[in-house]
Amino acid sequence: MGSTFPLIGDKFPEIETVTTYGKIKLPEYFKGKWFVLFSHPADFTPVCTTEFVAFAKRYEDFKKLNTELIGLSVDSSWSHIKWIEWIKDNLNVEIPFPIIADPRGLVAEKIGLLHTASATHTVRAVFIVDPNSVIRVILYYPAELGRNMDEILRIVKGLQISDKYKVALPANWPNNEIIGERVIIPPATTVQQAKERLEKYECFDWWLCHKEIPKEEVEEVKKYLKRIAGVKE
Ligand code: BEZ
Repeated sequence: MGSTFPLIGDKFPEIETVTTYGKIKLPEYFKGKWFVLFSHPADFTPVCTTEFVAFAKRYEDFKKLNTELIGLSVDSSWSHIKWIEWIKDNLNVEIPFPIIADPRGLVAEKIGLLHTASATHTVRAVFIVDPNSVIRVILYYPAELGRNMDEILRIVKGLQISDKYKVALPANWPNNEIIGERVIIPPATTVQQAKERLEKYECFDWWLCHKEIPKEEVEEVKKYLKRIAGVKE
């Protein structure tokens, strides 16, 4: 690891921590699955409450992608328990995933969640970790902006498609301005490969070739995009 906290491509650090589901060891707890670890500034705050509800409502979508969720803030387990009780009693939503209790900021410090904007509260970070415990994505948001959970689903599904078909995904996929829902063949790195690309795929040039993937993979992501656009199911 080249920095004091983990970056994309690093193994998720081994951490033993207290959660609302008891003591767990990460990343071992989610062995064989993808997981999304998301931090929030504090319990009993308005934006965080909306985020917990939004994550809970998409829990089944994450599970379909073999993906688990885990929250984190610099609050105690008692605070987390009381807060999720409040969410159940007042908003009728059960929180179906564990929350790390990190009142001394030990986990937060280890994975880089305490930024200049506030030394005492965790930023809204999202770590997406694959079944080999490799960190594939890190996103940071400020306290004043809630995350878009459907975009996080799009990212997880996109990475899974990239791994499965050995492809890359264009901007705004699957609604890309140039190739629509088609996916990109990683650029050729040899003269021979460059020639083969032009013979084998549809290409604008040897370094920009694309192909179709099965429709059902794309349909799943379009469902998330409809929700981002506010279209009711
Ligand atoms: C919130 O989650 O609502 C929040 C947290 C910290 C600062 C501002 C808003």
